Amino acid sequence: MKIIIVKDYEEASQKACEIMLEVVKNKPNANLGLATGSTPVRLYELMREDHKKNGTSYKDIKSFNLDEYFGLEQSHPQSYHYFMCKNLFNELDINMNNVHVPKGNGNIDEECANYNQLLADNPIDIQLLGIGSNGHIGFNEPGTPFDSVTHKVDLKQSTIEDNARLFFNGKIEDVPTQAVSMGIANIMQAKKVLLIACGSGKATAVKGMIEDPKTTDLPASALQDHSDVTLIIDEAAASLLTK
Ligand code: PGA
Repeated sequence: MKIIIVKDYEEASQKACEIMLEVVKNKPNANLGLATGSTPVRLYELMREDHKKNGTSYKDIKSFNLDEYFGLEQSHPQSYHYFMCKNLFNELDINMNNVHVPKGNGNIDEECANYNQLLADNPIDIQLLGIGSNGHIGFNEPGTPFDSVTHKVDLKQSTIEDNARLFFNGKIEDVPTQAVSMGIANIMQAKKVLLIACGSGKATAVKGMIEDPKTTDLPASALQDHSDVTLIIDEAAASLLTK
């Protein structure tokens, strides 16, 4: 694992943006694995600014998001499809036919099978990840097998609370309790993984991911076996690292 420790969220976002842009510029038809949550918001803003200022093009880029809430329409303001449009896609020249976010409704078994096929047909060049305070990646909660592929997930209470605080004005009852997520095996197939972790709330998960033995209790620890992982961690999230 390549570990880059930076001062704060802004520096983490700038560094992540450099890495994302390098991929897009070197391979204009790259397949990007994208993430939602509070962590990538500034990164996406920097990518939008770069597109506007420098004209970096996404017209041949394909994107594949990690996950989606179960039971929300794409048009719901809290859906991850909506989040991605608002925070990134609406201001890029990406072809919306090349944008893929798992669907959180309809026939879920069929949707999961289709998403797995899509990922098999379109190997991801770079997979962006955040990390949950409980160590999840995507919505792969503790206990998810490392060989999992796209599947329906029951969200843990800690995830529901984290997301209520950040996105649902603290209203726990509004947060969906289930989601659809790429599995850990799908994530491990990406050629390159870029994970950003900021803030003291991530410090325990970050330590477990890097320093403790691999365990399904901490899904991000699966990344110890990936050959090309870059972790961008701010000082607060790195505060429990000992080595
Ligand atoms: P966050 O979520 O970016 O909102 O902290 C990260 C995650 O749950 O993967």
